[in-house]
Amino acid sequence: MKVAVTRPLPDAGLQLLRDHYDVHIYGAQPGSRFDEAGLIDVAHDAAALLTVLSDPVTEHVLASCPSLKVVAQFAVGYDNIDVAAAHRLGIVVTNTPGVLTDATADFAFALLLAVARRLREADRYVRDGRFQRWETMELLGMELAGKTLGIVGMGRIGQAMARRALGFGMRVVYHNRHRVNPTDEYRLGARRVELEELLATSDVISLHCPLNDDSRHLIDAAAFAQMKPSALLINTARGPVVDEAALVEALREGRLAGAGLDVFEREPEVHPGLLDHPRVVLAPHLGSATVEARTAMARMCSEAIHAVLSGADDVPYRVA
Ligand code: GLV
Repeated sequence: MKVAVTRPLPDAGLQLLRDHYDVHIYGAQPGSRFDEAGLIDVAHDAAALLTVLSDPVTEHVLASCPSLKVVAQFAVGYDNIDVAAAHRLGIVVTNTPGVLTDATADFAFALLLAVARRLREADRYVRDGRFQRWETMELLGMELAGKTLGIVGMGRIGQAMARRALGFGMRVVYHNRHRVNPTDEYRLGARRVELEELLATSDVISLHCPLNDDSRHLIDAAAFAQMKPSALLINTARGPVVDEAALVEALREGRLAGAGLDVFEREPEVHPGLLDHPRVVLAPHLGSATVEARTAMARMCSEAIHAVLSGADDVPYRVA
């Protein structure tokens, strides 16, 4: 049986598939991405498709791959997959929750620190030869202790972010559809608030929600208008949660002090207004980019595919 893998992945995580199936790995050329036709081309004769978040796994793609039994997404988010269509067509969909929680929260916190302490400007300052003496009034940043972190989306990664914030002496408020269980709330010192209160009171706002119809452009011009002008925005979730044009406008007009962005509205395109702003730190979607997380993610995809193709009763990491 053929397993089509749309990008090169850590080899250690693919051994299970290599032992049992005819594994085809695509997408090795730098910058190459699949569109619908390309995906159909590689998956039309495959029993399993191992996908990344830029692969458009639409109903058309799924319906054009008659042998397909499982789509294993190499990510925790799966907004690129038409899960309802997969369900209708009897195709299992799986993802990789849990193993990238700490990696992603680490990266969100790295962006937070980088923006708060102006690391990008500081690095440039030294490289440009401007470090002539120890300065008393240059590059002053924002201290984290005592500040409020507003977390939008209090799932695994949001809670891991809250744990880090606690270690830095921050107060944590969160907005989430459901209240997290009171024991965890107590442990994290986190309080659930309405989005309006979070926007108005947070010094740093960090996004950790999935992308869906409710969260698309959740952070828009009206949201920026409610934030403190000194606030910082961190996004390691999905680009379209933020209206990027409104973000650029808010930064230009000084209605937001800075942003740390790992994801973009039209990835891999980046709004030109973000490229030259001194208090914006950018990264190419690196949240889960550790050797440990990426190897574990590949292993989870392999286990899920093997479970489906070998007819196991239980398929791990199943979302549909
Ligand atoms: C990455 O963005 C993921 O969803 O795992």
